[in-house]
Amino acid sequence: MKKKELNNKHNNFLIFSFLLIIFYILFSCETLDKNLLSNYIINDLDYFSLSTLNDDFGFAISSDPHFFGKNSNLQASINILRTCEKYYLEGRIEKLFILGDFFDIGGLKENWIRFLKLKKEISPNIKILSVIGNHDKYFGGQIFWKNIFGSIKSQDFNYGPSSFIWHYSFKNFHFIGLNLPSGFFNMKPTEIKWIEEELNKIPNEDFIVILSHSFFYSSGYKDISGNWFDNKGNIKNIAPIFANKADLVVSGHNHYMEWIEQDDLVWIIVGAMGGKPDPSPSFITKGSKWFLKDQFGFFLIEIKGEKIHCSFQDQFGNILFHKTLKK
Ligand SMILES: [Fe+2]
Repeated sequence: MKKKELNNKHNNFLIFSFLLIIFYILFSCETLDKNLLSNYIINDLDYFSLSTLNDDFGFAISSDPHFFGKNSNLQASINILRTCEKYYLEGRIEKLFILGDFFDIGGLKENWIRFLKLKKEISPNIKILSVIGNHDKYFGGQIFWKNIFGSIKSQDFNYGPSSFIWHYSFKNFHFIGLNLPSGFFNMKPTEIKWIEEELNKIPNEDFIVILSHSFFYSSGYKDISGNWFDNKGNIKNIAPIFANKADLVVSGHNHYMEWIEQDDLVWIIVGAMGGKPDPSPSFITKGSKWFLKDQFGFFLIEIKGEKIHCSFQDQFGNILFHKTLKK
């Protein structure tokens, strides 16, 4: 008798959980408020931007803000948005790229609404482009990510066969966004083919930046979920696609800042937009030239004449590390 009662309770619990999931999916499928999104959608009017007027131009890149997370530093994320907005208004940078992991759980609509409101308040003018991170996909969060970053209409921006991969160009600079929230298995053969074709169209003298959430080379640590350093799958299966064309590869996923020189390429880790800093690395990647942890900030690329100035900056815009590249 008791066993039957227990079974009934178990069944009721299963039915309740099932209904909860259905309710959650229906609720999640809603799109985000159009008024909030209007601040976000990039259209052709943006083509005539402030830095189009300048000879010098630049771009800011950061990743893994984990906005509103219990262990995140929201104030640091806000300061980075504020600093980038200031650089944008000064005509110093053209765009801010955020390489995923906006929140701990991307499937919570409330997070995206809070983020859009925050963005409108702190940095209303600068446009953000993004590649998707693993946390953005939790509980179907890609629906919201796509709402914001998957419907950009601009002359200088093209999507591939999915909105998770894209090509943005400004003057002789090209940014290729990859669909790598967790690893090489995320990229479909059609997406890989599109990237190859897109790269082939770019003249050799132009500068190419590859953007991804999960990294290729990185120093890191080991825990029960695996090795959080040198992603062998990405290095073996994805890096050869762009190895002969790209100049710079920028990724997040690891919550560090790192400058790596390996295989005739520069690899940047910049998961420093506010998410809880990762543990001290037990593995140092072979080409590591500079490494910093427990510091929030962003990576800045500034083009001045022939020179490409790259720097890591803290949340207020103070330079932490600087190096000049030449095409
Ligand atoms: Fe993250």
